[in-house]
Amino acid sequence: METSENLPVKRIGVLTSGGDAPGMNAAVRSIVRAAIDEGFEVFGIKDGFLGLHQDRFVSLDRACVNDIITRGGTFLGTARFTAFKEESIRAEAIENLKKHKIDALITIGGDGTYTGALRLHEMGVKCIGVPASIDNDVHGTEYSIGFDTASNNIMQNMDRLRDTSSSHHRVTIVEVMGRHCGDLAVIGGIAGGADYIITPEAEFKKESLFSKVSQAFASGKRHALICLCENIINAETLASELECTTGIECRATVLGHIQRGGSPSAMDRVLASQLGFYAVKLIAAGEYGKCVGIENNRLIATDIVEAINTPKKTKVTDYIHLSSKIS
Ligand code: F6P
Repeated sequence: METSENLPVKRIGVLTSGGDAPGMNAAVRSIVRAAIDEGFEVFGIKDGFLGLHQDRFVSLDRACVNDIITRGGTFLGTARFTAFKEESIRAEAIENLKKHKIDALITIGGDGTYTGALRLHEMGVKCIGVPASIDNDVHGTEYSIGFDTASNNIMQNMDRLRDTSSSHHRVTIVEVMGRHCGDLAVIGGIAGGADYIITPEAEFKKESLFSKVSQAFASGKRHALICLCENIINAETLASELECTTGIECRATVLGHIQRGGSPSAMDRVLASQLGFYAVKLIAAGEYGKCVGIENNRLIATDIVEAINTPKKTKVTDYIHLSSKIS
């Protein structure tokens, strides 16, 4: 960008990208208000990197972010824009930043968003990443925005499934999101009282699960809940195999996008407010190429290259001691 390293930042852009996460709006609200307090102007960019490329910028003032702290999703819109991997597309997007005289960009999202931010950073754009993904799979923070709300959504839906599972004395498999990270399955599953939790981090052996379920029912258990992380085994297939092998009736429910929606929890609103504020503070201090996070209740900044290249320490290892339920 033309902006010299030494010139103070005057105008910042903010976008949300990748899968929406409850609390993204609270983060934008916090960024807008903290930035205005710093004397910056703020522009929102619609639909993430897609809108950056298509030149869809909107000026944001304090009033634009009134009443959005309660809303799930992202009022700025989001997209998965794979063409952003191409340097020529990014170069066109950077022209739009220059046209609107944006000096620094805050990108809110998960690992794909961080990669986009890193590529822009390598091309001279001053970027800060804010972690928001229900999967909780980004390094540089213990919790990402949206994870807590999604965990609560899983818990509440498991409570409902428990009612019908226990009434029919069935095994119920609940498939949850997480992409390739078991955090949602572990936290949602423990909170929802799952008897077995299947995650990508621990080796999954069908035979072992079937024999644990058989033994439990033989010793008097009347129903069971299994929380299954997506992308391991098809939930319907597992249900019919379990039923065939054990003779116990089994049903599968794929929670899907239900778990990504809804008003953000208090924890997500507070986390988003803190991280948004801190992102602006870093820009005001002239620090870029970083992403913000929280670790042991402290705000931290991590180099974006490190955040992308270091595998996230998952919650699965923290909770494995709870029981033998994590298979
Ligand atoms: O990354 C968030 C997430 O919800 C994953 O858990 C899931 O695998 C994926 O997004 C679904 O993506 P989409 O909404 O594009 O179908």
